[in-house]
Amino acid sequence: MHIAVIGAGVIGLSSALCIHDRYHSIVKPLKIVIYADRFTPLTTSDGAAGLWQPYLYDEGNVQETKWCKETMDHLLKYVHSEDGAKMGVFLQSGYNVVKGPTPDPSWKDLVLGFRNLTPRELELFPGYSYGWFNTAMMIEGRRYLPWLMERLKERGVKFVHKKVESFQELSKQGADVILNCTGIRAGELQLDPKLTPGRGQIIKVKAPWMKHFILTHDLESGVYSTPYIIPGSELVTLGGIYQVGNWSEENSSQDHNKIWETCCEMVPGLRNAKIVSEWSGLRPVRDKVRLERETITYGPVKSEIIHNYGHGGFGMTIHWGCAMEAANIVRKILEERKLLQPLKSSL
Ligand code: FAD
Ligand code: BEZ
Repeated sequence: MHIAVIGAGVIGLSSALCIHDRYHSIVKPLKIVIYADRFTPLTTSDGAAGLWQPYLYDEGNVQETKWCKETMDHLLKYVHSEDGAKMGVFLQSGYNVVKGPTPDPSWKDLVLGFRNLTPRELELFPGYSYGWFNTAMMIEGRRYLPWLMERLKERGVKFVHKKVESFQELSKQGADVILNCTGIRAGELQLDPKLTPGRGQIIKVKAPWMKHFILTHDLESGVYSTPYIIPGSELVTLGGIYQVGNWSEENSSQDHNKIWETCCEMVPGLRNAKIVSEWSGLRPVRDKVRLERETITYGPVKSEIIHNYGHGGFGMTIHWGCAMEAANIVRKILEERKLLQPLKSSL
């Protein structure tokens, strides 16, 4: 069985690892090859702030909430271990603040210690009259992706640095199953009018006095770009740019000024912070994650494609649940090909 994964962001790497760990001892030989034209540290997943929270997203999609929960539960097993530090995974607490009373988010029971802010806490955030405090976690891409790649290399998974032009190209090379984990560029392989960029820009600063994340929201006014401050293991991420339909990966000085001024207005002490770097990236925004199987036939060649893209501003937050679902789909294909016994029903 030859599985080709297109994409080496958090979605491609985690899907490959989950599939390998489930099936390598029962399906022999199991060959997994990952194709990508960008590897860590150059993917969107590396640039992500890395907070576990379904950002700017609360459709209450039951399936996606389940995948987010599975990711949280999976990563919680690592937070107090040496591995957790190597993975860039650690607990982080902080505030979400809003201009007026807002229904609780769909993820309130997925995080730890979710509660409403007290009037005294709200005094810390002038202009905001409502909010929540909770403990979630950080999943820092620039540590997590190298960790995933190391685990895959140990398992004999191969990496090929190239742009894939079509699914057919990989089928011709013998791939039985192709995982499409191409993020915002999935439309280059198969048109998807539902997929659109949600451009973001962030500034990394040295501000070790910031210990909690602060996310602001103003959705009632239809404003998406509102400031956030997210402390990581070494640097603090300042952000809050969300521009739907903008394909530019260039940093914009206008957005820089907006991030800087709005974050410093909220926390004036940040004016003393040293700016270390700046980055822009594209969130793969879709009405819902595309995680499904498609069989494509090219003459005598049949390709099983598993699409796994469209994770918007919550790819780090949802990735492991999606990886497990992709592995479930692989299982069905293996059963159909009589490479695995069907799972016995519990009825
Ligand atoms: P990517 O990381 O973009 O990886 C796509 C891969 O596909 C790359 O390896 C690329 O080279 C490859 N590829 C694409 N097309 C081809 C092709 N034809 N041939 C070969 N290779 C190809 N999410 C969170 O959960 N928490 C956060 O705090 C957070 N912060 C963010 C902050 C910003 C500013 C932005 C922009 C996003 C943030 N996100 C966050 C969202 C998160 O970054 C994305 O959801 C996630 O990175 C998507 O992962 P991915 O693997 O699908 O895509
Ligand atoms: C984002 O910018 O996409 C983001 C920020 C904080 C948490 C999750 C996502």
